Amino acid sequence: MKVLQVGAEIYPLIKTGGLADVLGALPQALAAQGADLRLLLPGLPGIIDAVLHARRVCQIGPVFGAAKVTLLRAQMPYSQLPVYVIDAPFLYRRGGGPYQDRSGAEWADNLQRFGLLGWVAAQLAQGELDPEWAPEVVHAHDWHAAMSCAYLHAHPAGGAASVFTIHNLAYQGLFPHDDGALLGLSSRYMSPSALEFHGQLSFMKAGLKFADRVTTVSPSYAREIATPEFGAGLEGVIRSRGGDVSGILNGIDTAVWDPAADAALAQRYSAEQLAGKAACKAALQAQFGLAVDAQAPLLGVVSRLTSQKGLDLVLSALPELLQMGAQLVVQGTGDPALEAAFRMAGGAHAGRVGVLLGYDEIGAHRIMAGVDMMLVPSRFEPCGLTQMYALRYGTVPVVRRVGGLADTVHEATADAAGELQGNGFLFDAADPGALRDALARALALYRLPERWRRLMRRGMAESLSWDGPARQYLALYAQARAGHEGAARGPDLD
Ligand code: ADP
Ligand code: GLC
Repeated sequence: MKVLQVGAEIYPLIKTGGLADVLGALPQALAAQGADLRLLLPGLPGIIDAVLHARRVCQIGPVFGAAKVTLLRAQMPYSQLPVYVIDAPFLYRRGGGPYQDRSGAEWADNLQRFGLLGWVAAQLAQGELDPEWAPEVVHAHDWHAAMSCAYLHAHPAGGAASVFTIHNLAYQGLFPHDDGALLGLSSRYMSPSALEFHGQLSFMKAGLKFADRVTTVSPSYAREIATPEFGAGLEGVIRSRGGDVSGILNGIDTAVWDPAADAALAQRYSAEQLAGKAACKAALQAQFGLAVDAQAPLLGVVSRLTSQKGLDLVLSALPELLQMGAQLVVQGTGDPALEAAFRMAGGAHAGRVGVLLGYDEIGAHRIMAGVDMMLVPSRFEPCGLTQMYALRYGTVPVVRRVGGLADTVHEATADAAGELQGNGFLFDAADPGALRDALARALALYRLPERWRRLMRRGMAESLSWDGPARQYLALYAQARAGHEGAARGPDLD
């Protein structure tokens, strides 16, 4: 099956979060299972400067305000997968991040930047751009790629089915309604039954309304987003798609995240040879200026610092955590207020709390390996990858029971025969007391080294790779194609 994966970031070239990890790994798993797979990416500097053997496929435009747009065909470094890159210097070749400038402000022309991404995906699917290849399925990730579903709906000739994956409903791609004219779609697409969302235009909604199938990155989040609490105002649209919406749990790249082969670590280790993990812990304690103490339970956080991640709960519970004898390492960037609060906590508890306000991929691996427990107290979490990386590294996750965290972490308990079950610790209420209680349970088990090691090994033995999820996506693509042919045009506009 010919499949085009469309997204805005991809590990290891450009990454702001877990989306990049997914785009870096899922396509490889799909190709390994026989899909004729290609990627479509915007020509951001980190991408266009890194791809190999780029050659011109065709010249496009002027479109979306860019005089010169060239579609390139190239090869991804590392994975070697074939990739189309949109070289639109005016829209993509600039410093700063993929969505925001250096000051953190959204790029003023994001509608054009990501409108173009979706439009090129649909053009490719219609066989307009590359005479040698056209996808049968376009798989668009998050709002950045969602417009491909609207463009495919508007020009259904060519017949590619579309699958849209929600990675995070909190980021929707909202634009002034008046800018809709720049999208080159009929005004029918600017109505509330299409892109309009409370007087604005929503790219996320383009995916939700017009994709043949909608997925999100865990079964629990798929249920949650049909409710007002998690639906971010789009719960009605999601409910209206009924059985077209499903959850497929993310996997992890087990080659990138492998404690037995991880060059970033002070010492490598495995479930059979756990000694190296103690060396990683000692190195981490030294790196963060903490007392180098093998017995002290070391807690870790690697995260974007946003309200989503619930890290204010860690700050509120901190005095009690320290009283229980714990140490804490935090690595993150984001909300200035949270950064300041963690900086202060690090200053106030030097030797027990280490804080690194920054983004550092190698550092994330060292923390994952060096800590005993990873805290993920999210208010909502579509999937969450850090708790899965933790499991693979023999680090016990302590998480809030929400979204993908609830689907991947199971409370450690003894069954009737006294056998240890589960792989981590969970709490329900988004309050510091609930986090503290879960940590108290975790620390009680931590004090029983034999049982704790068994818990670590249970996590390390889990199968978290992309093989299973890739199979589920392939089955879904087949369904989307069958449904697409049956429906001819997907959902109608009224
Ligand atoms: P989200 O995508 O919502 O941020 P995920 O858990 O899916 O959450 O993915 C987060 C990814 O970003 C993980 O790969 C994690 O290791 C990484 N990450 C987050 N913050 C940092 C940081 N400060 N330094 C390095 N990696 C980070
Ligand atoms: C989003 C979500 C996160 C998920 C990631 C990859 O960034 O916030 O929960 O793991 O996408 O799907």
